[in-house]
Amino acid sequence: MQKILFATSEVYPLIKTGGLADVSASLPRALLKLGYDVKILLPAYASVLEKITEKSIKTIAQFEFEGNRISLKQTRLPGTRVTVWLVDIPEFSERAGNPYCGPNGNDWYDNHNRFYLFSKTAELIALNQINLDWQPDIVHCNDWQTGLIPALLSLHQQRPATVFTIHNLAYRGLFSYQAFVELNLPNSFWHHECLEFYGQMSFIKGGLVFADFVTTVSPSYAKEIQKPEFGYGLDGLLRYRNKVLAGILNGIDCDEWNPGTDPHLTATYNRRTLSNKTKNKMALQASMGLTVDQSIPLLGFVGRLVDQKGVDLILSQMSHLLTSNYQLVVLGSGFTHYEQTLKNIAVQNPHKVAVYIGYDEGLAHQIEAGCDIFLMPSIFEPCGLNQMYSLRYGTLPIVHAVGGLRDTVIEQQADVMSGEENGFVFHKPEGKELLAAIERAIKAYEQPDAWKKMQLNAMSRDFSWEASAKSYGEIYTQIT
Ligand code: ADP
Ligand code: GLC
Repeated sequence: MQKILFATSEVYPLIKTGGLADVSASLPRALLKLGYDVKILLPAYASVLEKITEKSIKTIAQFEFEGNRISLKQTRLPGTRVTVWLVDIPEFSERAGNPYCGPNGNDWYDNHNRFYLFSKTAELIALNQINLDWQPDIVHCNDWQTGLIPALLSLHQQRPATVFTIHNLAYRGLFSYQAFVELNLPNSFWHHECLEFYGQMSFIKGGLVFADFVTTVSPSYAKEIQKPEFGYGLDGLLRYRNKVLAGILNGIDCDEWNPGTDPHLTATYNRRTLSNKTKNKMALQASMGLTVDQSIPLLGFVGRLVDQKGVDLILSQMSHLLTSNYQLVVLGSGFTHYEQTLKNIAVQNPHKVAVYIGYDEGLAHQIEAGCDIFLMPSIFEPCGLNQMYSLRYGTLPIVHAVGGLRDTVIEQQADVMSGEENGFVFHKPEGKELLAAIERAIKAYEQPDAWKKMQLNAMSRDFSWEASAKSYGEIYTQIT
């Protein structure tokens, strides 16, 4: 079976800032299950090393490269059989905090060098040049942090095939010309058909230009990024590469996100015991200081508080929400402006709006289970995992029809029920469209039988990784 080196900058539960971490944990597991020999390559961030006991880690290679001492450490992804190789350089392992930025929220000054050294290590492994006695057939790269890998490998005639997955095109990995010079990359890379992007260096272009196959995380996003509106200046390149571009919908970890066994819940439930869901709602209302009343519709939001997630749309409709008989619970962190505005609203309306600023895995599960309705009004959304978690938990999502949201949420058209409805969809990224969708959802909520039918539809859908992992497998076969 084929050998896959899966290069990523985040893997749950070792390090996570978003959905990339979830995917980087569950896709390799699914590939392993299909028989692939997969190794995950991850930076050895200080916070990752802290989570690993001395017994479960060993150094498997040490080498010098352009004056940098790099050591490669081997461990297991906790709770799985998947091998993780950690690239240990001081720029990763001696720096606490977020993988990409310092405590002031600014990107680390040397990100270009950190992820160049990471990519260089991937290249050396791929070419079997550090005596590991293991050479991949495929190097599967993810997002800009790994974009240089296909570019570096393109310089060799004998090399593994490369796949580059776009999780979010908005992050293009842009650095100055000076940074390009510092990395000592071949001059030929400074060209608009290579890494140069309007006078800057773009790491993600390395993946988009040089990978043998480019994928993204939903079929709709694969189409959207070929249009100027969602292409971030790279739509022309993506149209050019369109024959080797495909959208494969992410799956979710159905063990981690299973309302039938979830240890974070007050009461577990499944399709047959759906009435238990209410116990989670009342527990959430109580723990968040909201009025405890099972008849009040409870809306939830979990996510990064950034423009992408449509936080503005929610804020623009706040006065309507506050004068209606709904409750809202928000979990997230991100832009200070959004954090502060949401906190103020919660302080002024403590029994109606609860806001937790920060990162809390357990609370994310409790919101998915305890709410009636999940808000995901993203302006763009490559795939989105939270709407799939909420579907699995029978918490009907309200989404903007983009990317993976469009591909997973189905609303009733006109008066005809197709039997597949599982949520509410609005088509323009505008506050009043969101409000209209909330009003449609509340109307449906007031019809318990129809609501339950939608919940059952939502909970019945298969979001496991199996089918998607097979689609990646087909691409691996095609390019080797
Ligand atoms: P993105 O990767 O763009 O942030 P996704 O929907 O793909 O969006 O994935 C987000 C992931 O991060 C989900 O697993 C979600 O539950 C989690 N998440 C986001 N913010 C928080 C938070 N504040 N606390 C706990 N989990 C969070
Ligand atoms: C990105 C996207 C999100 C996607 C995730 C995993 O962070 O913003 O939509 O679900 O990657 O692929």
